[in-house]
Amino acid sequence: MINTTYVLKCAINGKAVAIPVPASKRMSDILRDDLLLTGTKVSCEIGRCGACMVLLDGKPVNSCLLMAYQAAGREVTTIEGISAGEDLHPVQQAMLEEGGLQCGYCTAGMVVTLTALWEINPAPTRAEAEQALCGNICRCTGYEGIFRAVERCGLSIKREG
Ligand code: FES
Ligand code: FES
Repeated sequence: MINTTYVLKCAINGKAVAIPVPASKRMSDILRDDLLLTGTKVSCEIGRCGACMVLLDGKPVNSCLLMAYQAAGREVTTIEGISAGEDLHPVQQAMLEEGGLQCGYCTAGMVVTLTALWEINPAPTRAEAEQALCGNICRCTGYEGIFRAVERCGLSIKREG
């Protein structure tokens, strides 16, 4: 029988890792099972809900569709790597202040997606935020708190200037 275990070498939340994983294992399972980074959630498992969103070289991807070999040599950032230690990222702070969550199951994925948007466009319009979040489903909030959080991020940046 062919041994399909693969040593995945990549950076996760800024730290180099080298872990043996089956080549067919999904990144979402590697994060949760092998690295205990359980902030990444799994729901649909087919790339539809965005609960499992992580950044791959700064761009949001569904980690349930990302295989081990696809992350080799690249930088993966999970929700655990979004904040700077105890200091929340402005997107996280805005989500808290605007009540952009209820059960919280989608929140990590939402924050990851919005952080990627914030990096390239810190004052997005509602349309730009809707476009960015088209791959993230929330079953609880009705989205208004989430979009208020987006607006708050933009407003806080404008006030700083
Ligand atoms: S669990 Fe990956 S997109 Fe739903
Ligand atoms: S807050 Fe419950 S799914 Fe979004």
